[in-house]
Order: sequence, then structure tokens, then C-alpha cells
Amino acid sequence: MTDPLRSPGASALTEACRQRLRWRESAGLLRRAMVRERAQEGLPWVIDNGRKLLSFATNDYLGLAHDPRLAAAAATALERYGTSASAAGLLGGRTALHAELEARLADWLGQESALVLPSGYQANLAAQSFLGRRAIVLHDRLNHASLLAATVLARARARRYRHADPVHCAGLLAQPGVELIATESLFGMDGDTAPLTALAGLAAHRGLPLLVDEAHALGVLGPEGNGLAVTLPADLRPAIVVGTFGKALASQGACIAGPEAVIDFLRQAAAPAVYTTALAPAAVAATLKAIEVLREEPDRRSMLRQRVQQFVAAIAGHLPLTAQPEGAVIGLLVGEATRTVEISRRLAEAGFVVPAIRPPTVPEGSSRLRVSLTAAHTEAQVEALAAAIRACWPTAAVSPAMARGPQA
Ligand SMILES: Cc1ncc(COP(=O)(O)O)c(C=O)c1O
Repeated sequence: MTDPLRSPGASALTEACRQRLRWRESAGLLRRAMVRERAQEGLPWVIDNGRKLLSFATNDYLGLAHDPRLAAAAATALERYGTSASAAGLLGGRTALHAELEARLADWLGQESALVLPSGYQANLAAQSFLGRRAIVLHDRLNHASLLAATVLARARARRYRHADPVHCAGLLAQPGVELIATESLFGMDGDTAPLTALAGLAAHRGLPLLVDEAHALGVLGPEGNGLAVTLPADLRPAIVVGTFGKALASQGACIAGPEAVIDFLRQAAAPAVYTTALAPAAVAATLKAIEVLREEPDRRSMLRQRVQQFVAAIAGHLPLTAQPEGAVIGLLVGEATRTVEISRRLAEAGFVVPAIRPPTVPEGSSRLRVSLTAAHTEAQVEALAAAIRACWPTAAVSPAMARGPQA
């Protein structure tokens, strides 16, 4: 029916969107945004329907988002450069801080050069801009949506190998036209790591570039919190590393790091990097400070590891994990979306935010709770969460193999 306050096109679109939303709701796929509260003791609290809940949904893995040193660095940059970069990087949006951060990142990530972008999603979109039309990119089955979107944007084709399975990847390499292998290093929804040495070996053998997205590993894994790509021998180093600043680095933005010519080319030619306002100087300054702090304070990483071990020990034998957690993320497999939402709702009643992750973020039948721990959570809080999860868990658990469903 035409709405007198809208044009016929807007009315039709509104109705189509309403129908889609209703379908999502009935399938248990509707997401609700909660409002974040001011942090206390560095911990993320969330207000939901007037109730204050402790969040286990944050990616601030090292508890740095309220660190006064990061805030002071951001404040100085705000004062000096204002609230916005005000232009694209190639049109005057860059500051001396952008150049300093790019040099720091290249060094930290063990690459020749780096390019800073406003978000990780954009960095991934930009990072595949060198692909030829109809090229094939081999993706891990569980790669982040932005890695796959980049292949679509480049008008290339994605072929997905079974999760963390280099043998399947090697099989797919036999087809003509493969130009890239892409993987996350630490998977953001399952919490396990990629078989990087094997994938790098395959790529090297075929003379192909390997792209590694370190979004969930940066700050958490690696000798200086600098991710997993640096742990490979020099002759197996991935050609392209993507790092994001919105997780353990407690800031905003992202980078692509790699050989100088590749980065120079992306800076000139990658549309998601060229046609966008440069990252705000305050975020650049906070990121620089975060790298300094986490280099100097390795205890944050060990504290996080302890919390993860504690949580896993508390639920071991009770609940199915998506994988053995290697970073801050622990996936607890439920299977069905509606059931996962129900457990998440009961946990909220008990005072905890633990998000239900459902398709299309994860494959059909593998809905799970995603617990992310941080160095700022206390031992007592982690224990309380584990007890609440055990109490809320349905009696008929789903086996991981069943729940993961058919792959590739
Ligand atoms: C693996 C991975 N890559 C990239 C991104 C995108 O990063 P950003 O949030 O900075 O856009 C995310 C964020 O969820 C991610 O998990």
C-alpha cells in the first residue's frame, strides 16, 4: 500500500525491508545493538533495558581502551590537528603522525612498508586491488566477510578450502588462474589459528602471494604482540599483512603492510584507500601509543592467556568448544540459531553480555556463543561467567562435528 508521506519507490522499498526484517526475526537472526556505558576499572559495561551488564563481547583484548596514556596521546592530536583528517590521504588528509605510524607498523610487522586506512573492512577491500579480472583467490572457509567482499569487488572469483586445511588448499591450487591465497591468522569467530607455515610453503612453492589478516592476533600473539606472520622465516613471510587497530590496539583504523612497491601501488590505485577520508589524527596517535604500551608491557598478554586458560579449565568437559582457543576468543558451539539466542538472553539475565553468533557470520548449523576475554577481566568475573554459562547451557549439547556442518 502506498504511504502518502513517502514516494511510491520509498514505500515499496520500506515494505520489502520490513518483510526481510520479519523473516530475520522469525529465523532468530535479528541483531540488537546495546548501548555501551562508561567503563569502570577499565572494564566494558553495557546498558541493556536499564540494566548494567558486564561485557564479554569486547575486542579490547588487552584492556587498553580506557588507558590514560592512549587518551592523552589522542587528546594532543585532537588539539593539534582537529577532529577530522578533513580530506583523503592523497589530497592533504595526511599528517606527520600518519607517516610516523606507517613507518612504525612496517617495522613492527616485519615488512618494508605500510599503508594506514580508516577501517579493517576497508583495508581488506583495498588489499586485493592488484588482482586481475576473473583471477581466483583461495580463501579459508571461515575467512572474514571483508576478505571475501574484496574478491568480489576486484571482480575475481573466490574458492574456499576447508577450514585450516592446507591439503584441501593444495588441491584447489591445481586449477589455473589462482593469484592469491588469503587467510586470517587467528580466526575471529572460532578462536583457532591458521596453518600459516603450510600455507606459506604452498604459496612459495607456486610463486603466489599469501595475504594474512591479523585482526585478532595483533596485540595478542607474536613475540611483541606483532602477530603471527612475523614468526615465519623471512623466505616464507606473507606478501601482504592486514592489521586492524579497533581490537587489541584499542583504537580505530587498520593497515596493509607489504613490499614497498605493492604498498605504493595500493596507495595510488586501491579505490577503498584513495576515495576515502584519511584516518582521524586522534586515532592515529592512539594507535601509535598502543603499540608502544603493548611492546613495553608483555604482562598484559600473559594476563590474557591466564584468563583464557582459567575459563577453558572451568568449562572443560562440560561444553563443546569451536576449537582450542589460541587467543582471546572462545567459541562455544550450540548449533541452532534460536537456541543460541536463548542462551545469550539467559546470560544477559544473569548479568553478562555474551553474543550469539549466527549465520551469515558463521556457517548454517554452527551458531555459537562468542566469549571474548580481556586482560582487564578479573579471575572472579571469569569464574562467575563460566558458572553462569554452565547453568544456562541446554542439556542436549551438539557435537562440534555435527554443528560445523558440511564444509567448502
Ligand atoms: C578478521 C577481521 N578482519 C577485518 C575486520 C574489520 O575490521 P574493522 O572493524 O576495523 O573494520 C574484522 C572485524 O570484525 C575482522 O574480524
